[in-house]
Amino acid sequence: MDRDSVREIKDRIDIVELIGETVQLRRAGKSFRGLCPFHSEKTPSFHVSTDRQTYHCFGCGRGGDIYSFVMEREGLSFSEVLAMLAERAGVTLERRPDRPERGSGVSKAMDTALSFFRDSLAGAGGEGARKYLERRGISSGNAAGFEIGWSPSSWDSLKRDLEARKIPLADAMAAGLLAESDRRQYDRFRGRIIFPIRDVQGRLVAFGGRLVDGEGTKYINSPEGDLYSKRKTLYLLNSAKQSIRERGRSILVEGYMDAVKLHMAGFTEAVASLGTSLADEQAVLLKRFADQCLICYDADTAGQAATIRGMYVLQRSGLDIRVVVLPAGKDPDDLLAESDGAKRFEVLLQRSEPLPLFHIRVKRSELEDESRRTEARREIIRGLAELPSLEANRHISQVAQGIGILLPEMLDLLRAARESAGKERKKGISSPESVYIDRQEGPGKEGDVDPWESALCFLLWTDEKGRADTAPEAVLRLLSDERAKSIAVTLLSGDSTAELRSRWAEMGDSFPMRMISSGGAHCERNGESGELWKIVVSALEGKRLRGRLSALKERHARKEASPEEMKEYLELARRLKGGVGSS
Ligand code: UTP
Ligand code: MN
Repeated sequence: MDRDSVREIKDRIDIVELIGETVQLRRAGKSFRGLCPFHSEKTPSFHVSTDRQTYHCFGCGRGGDIYSFVMEREGLSFSEVLAMLAERAGVTLERRPDRPERGSGVSKAMDTALSFFRDSLAGAGGEGARKYLERRGISSGNAAGFEIGWSPSSWDSLKRDLEARKIPLADAMAAGLLAESDRRQYDRFRGRIIFPIRDVQGRLVAFGGRLVDGEGTKYINSPEGDLYSKRKTLYLLNSAKQSIRERGRSILVEGYMDAVKLHMAGFTEAVASLGTSLADEQAVLLKRFADQCLICYDADTAGQAATIRGMYVLQRSGLDIRVVVLPAGKDPDDLLAESDGAKRFEVLLQRSEPLPLFHIRVKRSELEDESRRTEARREIIRGLAELPSLEANRHISQVAQGIGILLPEMLDLLRAARESAGKERKKGISSPESVYIDRQEGPGKEGDVDPWESALCFLLWTDEKGRADTAPEAVLRLLSDERAKSIAVTLLSGDSTAELRSRWAEMGDSFPMRMISSGGAHCERNGESGELWKIVVSALEGKRLRGRLSALKERHARKEASPEEMKEYLELARRLKGGVGSS
């Protein structure tokens, strides 16, 4: 990817046409007007300018160019949008082959398998499965809507279908559709209801299969690999994202069936976590669309230590977590099946509690037992200490009351817990979550942009020559904050700074200039002007490598690292010892 492509794509795609595909626009003088797709409104305050090729909403203040529009609408990162728009504009980008492309053999195998599963459900052999689904309240129409399928009970029906359609076995293996034993490949999914799992962009990345009868594991899923990573996936997110944005909240449940049923009942902001522990990557995905997340697990799982830890992981990544407690032994699917289920579910959502308060309730009996009280208090305070202080402060007095101590003592304990958490982080015992926060710097609030990232934007702003000599991919690699990236790309796309300043002013967007000037202040504090590029770049490079190292270390510790990742890990560890980050 190079700067010319960024520019060229912009030249080739007309913003009015692009936005006009999803927003009804009417001409109003030289510009166009319509209802803002990013907030709900009755009178149009969303303007698209043909001259400037920008949009701006006077209602919610969002604005930008084709890239930011698609980023916002689809919840994608800059590079994802770039790839998408490049395809549309017919511009070829230099690609990093990190993930199978649409149209690659593996994706084709996946798509073909989905058709096969769906045909199998609709066909004669799918009768039992259709009956099962109907018993569970899912009509054929619903099944079609959610692309639900059926994998016949035989060992090779999919395999034979793929062969007949000339799908190479190697691709089907790589897609995880077939498994192998004694060099013979056989269907991984047999006798199961199939739920296709798409990523946030709608690409088919995995399948989940529920056993219909007989013995065996209730659910199996596609293996993780290049295509599919559980930590980065949420079932139904692609269908839910628009509602999540409109409603300002997501509902997170455990099961496929729960998510499907919630959507059917109108809770189209529901996604499922696929039965794994919650990961910071999932938090970041959800946060792209709304800050609030209602976690809705059945009573037994919700109270488990591992689940609570997962909730803190999400909260620390910047989501505002509320916990919805369901009646013991019931999941959302069970609840919705009862009379007035949807209404009662909505009441439970209203009664959801902030995480620290929920935590206290879970620990109630321990808090009442003298021998276990201290430990329970410590755990709750430790959780609170890990939250951003603004968030934690909101709950301090209620938590103090809930665990039965006085406010001054609570403040002392909290301070101590924060200090020891800080120390642990410094010692490098950082968890993968906090590494992620380091990289991501909590999107949303502008104060959170990493000062070094702002500094880089400042350099791009002030140093015209430096800007001309800089390759966009080199810059983008160093930035993790999407807003910093988008500003950097705008700067690199060749518009003059005067032009940009007036465009931002006109859009009422003061963020870029504020960020740039805070970056300037950071530069002033940190170096001589001749050295600034070097200093800023090496600080960001060091940060990037350290983040990568911790992520790899974590994967290694969990025994999830591939041989290539191990190699990268060792190399990085050696390099960083040599002082890459501190130069
Ligand atoms: P549950 O056991 O609660 O199943 O697992 P469920 O969602 O209520 O399914 P139904 O209603 O019996 O059909 C919750 C989720 O955990 C994952 C699945 O994603 C499931 O939806 N899971 C469960 C597995 O991955 N493997 C299993 O063996 C069981
Ligand atoms: Mn269930």
